[in-house]
Amino acid sequence: MIQRYRRAAELEEQSVSLLGTPNMEARTEHQKVKHYQLLYTLTTSIGIGTIILVLFWILYYQNGFAWQSLPRVQFNWHPLLMIIGMVFFYSQAMLIYRTGRNYQKNTLKLVHMSLNLLAFILAVIALKAVFDSHNLTGTANMYTLHSWIGLTTVIVFALQFLAGFVTFLYPGLSPSIRKALLPTHVAFGSGCFAGAIIASASGFLEKAIFQKIYDQNVTEGIVVNILGLSIAFFGVLVLHLVHNVDYKRVPLADDQIVLERSDN
Ligand code: HEM
Repeated sequence: MIQRYRRAAELEEQSVSLLGTPNMEARTEHQKVKHYQLLYTLTTSIGIGTIILVLFWILYYQNGFAWQSLPRVQFNWHPLLMIIGMVFFYSQAMLIYRTGRNYQKNTLKLVHMSLNLLAFILAVIALKAVFDSHNLTGTANMYTLHSWIGLTTVIVFALQFLAGFVTFLYPGLSPSIRKALLPTHVAFGSGCFAGAIIASASGFLEKAIFQKIYDQNVTEGIVVNILGLSIAFFGVLVLHLVHNVDYKRVPLADDQIVLERSDN
């Protein structure tokens, strides 16, 4: 009996010391990256699936696309470009440090900035589409909760983009200030992304109510509901991937060299 206890204690000691070896650390790091990649693939597939479903909804139920010659149809650019820009590209921009963890930090910063810029350009075109469609049909602007949440989100996004650009990219503030501001940048970025998710889901609900979709076309109503759910689900998964410390990128040796060079 005593021997059995001794053996158990020996085994426990061995496993504790094993955990401390670099080999084991590398293995758990490898597992975390694997988990990230799996969840990232699932999340991105939901995102791409949502974009395809929006496209299907517009082409099949909402008369496709046009510009100012058909203002009511011009509206359709609004949901499509908002979902591609403010939801999908924005999510990829936030996740790029984790998805492209093997690239150098400066490269990742440039990709992060470019994806956000692309998201902003698409959001501006999407806003032009909806304001045009309202103005050209004599409809009032900015009277719904959706429009207030949406415009606030785009304004905060633009301010966050400018602040991030000046702080982290050009001219770039000192390393200590950058480090101090990073949590605020991440918090505002995540909050703004949540705003985009809420705006998108409320936009579909509003469209369904305004067009009496729930009263007139049950199948279209189901499509709209699936869109709302998948957007919400996508948002939760993205925020989980952004905030789970297990998935955080481990700095590369090169990062430090480049940072030191740029500090001189
Ligand atoms: C991040 C995403 C989105 C943002 C920032 C946003 C922003 C806005 C803004 C600022 C307006 C006001 C335009 C005006 O008053 O002339 C608006 C209108 C509208 N949006 Fe969105 N939108 C987003 C996504 C969507 C989506 C996915 C839909 C789905 C169909 C949608 C549906 C509508 C509708 C029906 C209107 C017209 C009624 C209203 O003014 O509320 N939006 N949006």
